[in-house]
Amino acid sequence: MKKLILIALAGFAINAMAASDGATLFKNCAGCHGAQAQKKALGRSDIINTWKSDKIESALIGYKKGTFGGAMKGIMKSQASRLSDEKIKVLAKYIPTLKK
Ligand code: HEC
Repeated sequence: MKKLILIALAGFAINAMAASDGATLFKNCAGCHGAQAQKKALGRSDIINTWKSDKIESALIGYKKGTFGGAMKGIMKSQASRLSDEKIKVLAKYIPTLKK
């Protein structure tokens, strides 16, 4: 019984790690922003791998709250509202590392 609980806990820890990993989180963004965040999403957004972490973080929080965005902000609101503030931080740190 104890063993089972331990296994369950270990599985949970691995899941939690995967969910807070930048590369994993960014998979949900790559379709529009490009694998290296090097594209203008849907021909509209800035190329976000040139943005600093702070700017990415405040943009994502702004989309979530409805205080930031351009003509296509609805698309990003649905993306950002699925992210916890912690995941936003992880993504904001990760995206600038994609610039080659
Ligand atoms: C369905 C396509 C799509 C997906 C998926 C998507 N984005 Fe976007 N993203 C856009 C578009 C379009 C814009 C420009 C929206 C606007 O008008 O404000 C944008 C804008 C942004 C901006 C601000 C850039 C600017 O020009 O102001 C950031 C930062 C961003 N996205 C990050 C992300 C992150 C991080 C993810 C994954 C969690 C993600 N996006 C997923 C389409 C997408």
